[in-house]
Amino acid sequence: MNHAQASERVRELRTLLNKANDAYYQDASPLMSDREYDLLLEELRQLEEEHSLFSPDSPTGRIGGQPTREFPTVTHPVPMLSLSNTYSRGELDDFDRRVRNLLGHKSYSYMAELKYDGMAIRLRYEKGRLVLGATRGDGSQGDDITANIRTIQDVPLTLSGRPADLLEVRGEAYMELAAFAKMNSAREENGETVFANPRNATAGTLKLQDPSIVSRRPIRMFAYDLLLEDGDGERTQKEKLDLLEKLGFRVCEHRSLCPGIEDVHDIIEKWGRLRKNLPYETDGVVVKVNEERYRDILGQTAKAPRWAIAYKFEAERAVTRIHGITLQVGRLGTITPVAELDPVLLAGTTVKRATLHNEEEIQRKDIRVGDRIVVEKAGDIIPQVVSVVLQEDGERGGSFGMPEACPACSSKLVKLPEEVAWRCTNNQCPPQVRSRLEHFASRDAMDIDGMGEAVVDQLVTEQLVTAFPDLYRLDADDLIPLERMGEKSAANLIASIGKSREKPFEKVLYALGIRFVGITVARDLARAFPSIDALTDATEEELCAIDSIGPRIAGSVRSFLDQPDNLDMIRQLRELGLTFESELPETASDRFSGKTFVLTGTLPTLKRSEAQAHIENHGGKVTSSVSKKTDFVLAGDEAGSKLEKAKKLGLTIITENDFFEMIK
Ligand code: IVH
Repeated sequence: MNHAQASERVRELRTLLNKANDAYYQDASPLMSDREYDLLLEELRQLEEEHSLFSPDSPTGRIGGQPTREFPTVTHPVPMLSLSNTYSRGELDDFDRRVRNLLGHKSYSYMAELKYDGMAIRLRYEKGRLVLGATRGDGSQGDDITANIRTIQDVPLTLSGRPADLLEVRGEAYMELAAFAKMNSAREENGETVFANPRNATAGTLKLQDPSIVSRRPIRMFAYDLLLEDGDGERTQKEKLDLLEKLGFRVCEHRSLCPGIEDVHDIIEKWGRLRKNLPYETDGVVVKVNEERYRDILGQTAKAPRWAIAYKFEAERAVTRIHGITLQVGRLGTITPVAELDPVLLAGTTVKRATLHNEEEIQRKDIRVGDRIVVEKAGDIIPQVVSVVLQEDGERGGSFGMPEACPACSSKLVKLPEEVAWRCTNNQCPPQVRSRLEHFASRDAMDIDGMGEAVVDQLVTEQLVTAFPDLYRLDADDLIPLERMGEKSAANLIASIGKSREKPFEKVLYALGIRFVGITVARDLARAFPSIDALTDATEEELCAIDSIGPRIAGSVRSFLDQPDNLDMIRQLRELGLTFESELPETASDRFSGKTFVLTGTLPTLKRSEAQAHIENHGGKVTSSVSKKTDFVLAGDEAGSKLEKAKKLGLTIITENDFFEMIK
């Protein structure tokens, strides 16, 4: 390659990598896999070196993204470096050789930890209390996302034991695979965009401006480094991880102290095999020189320390052919396109289908029937189509387009503004009826034993049940003719349907399957409006006054309760003996009778809803705004304007501890 060609390629690579960086850090949705990124970056680095094509703003010269604008920027007193990556065992031996050469005859060991695939965060504790949580940003400056970080249950707000006056903890925020899959399917069902993988979901979530949404997302954290002011540098990584654990952090449970690099190879081999059994995603093993005192000798390059390296596993991917695209109809009518694949073995299971998420996603990746495609297990659970492998000579099928009619009931499909999903609006569309019934009978809803997918399918096909009330009118004789349904199982099913009448109002409300009304929202609604009549009378504003409810949920509840068919169904269910009133909890005491509380800020241990329940259990009332009539303001951390106002009005301000004293 001559100089002109090299500089052309360098320009191309810089543009591409800058775009990839922005997509990864700013939009939290990657353009390419880590592997592709690493390869392109390496190509760029080599070209720049060989042809002396340096530039200060080349992607080779910075660690990651720029901090985003919406959060205050913080400068990291100790930069947050990155790690050098390798996919090769040979390079791991090279790393060990370099360490040995630099350390001369000193004896050293390695700590091998799993590499969590999430987002790096930095926490600062003063006198044992969390005072700052930040993102890595570009390595020297990041975003102050303290309010979001406080919502992560694994992040202690106050440390245990006897912490130093000032300490910094670094770790990885991430999502467990099962929780990620559950969250994504709820999003898909609600017509919201789904996240490509747990890492994007974590990064996207921690960059939200509203901590109350963050608190409802399943973010977790592992701590992997501790920086102490004393900086005696005499600790080992092992001791630091043990200390972090004592301070109240979760640390890598699969850490191994390795006397030599051979032991590291064994650990890598082991986790390469076993990582699919872990509840979270790991994309490699981080190998660190265990003795902190050697870190200075080994030093660092501009971006990464020389005392550590990340060995990365190859993503589990396979290539196969897509022979069809089918459409699935969800409980609320959402249409999800699914790729039908020639069966292929991937990470230990045969994959025949993969989600294509939605029409836009198919068009963006330009996936067509007949194409050879790369399929990957996102979070090793849900297979998804990553990209098309273009054949040089191959003819391709036509582009995918959504049909105009529902594949199950032929009703016209609609796409609401602001939504990516198409939906079938026919309430009686059979797959919708089936999934509604499955949801109604599910454990968190009416918990009807023996009413699984197969039974629901028969009930709907035989037209025994088209709506919830029909269930309560069945008798055993209706069921016996069904396949694989003996007299005994018919009687059992009737008994469990009958027993479900005892389910409390909040479960019934959840079982109705109102869009955006999950278990928590249903509970909050039932608490605020203790009967279906009160709920039916509530305006959108009144609904929005509940903490967990915003205009989107309120609008959905209102529109459900405005439909005469739904009101008629509720009337029938009520006549059939289902519970549509909350049993009011017994008042524990009436010591707060006539007293009004305002809650503000984050309390150290109680959630807002728990504090409210305590107050109500003792006869008190919680209101949202501070006024002269407020008797107590229960204030936690980062209480803002309400606390200011309370001070101005000279109201009684109490801490969580005072509150506990009061209800003791
Ligand atoms: S140690 C000097 N340990 O990997 C950097 N990092 O590319 C020290 N990561 O940004 C990092 N698991 O977010 C370390 N057990 C682990 C890790 C880990 C995941 C992430 C971390 C860092 C990235 C490095």
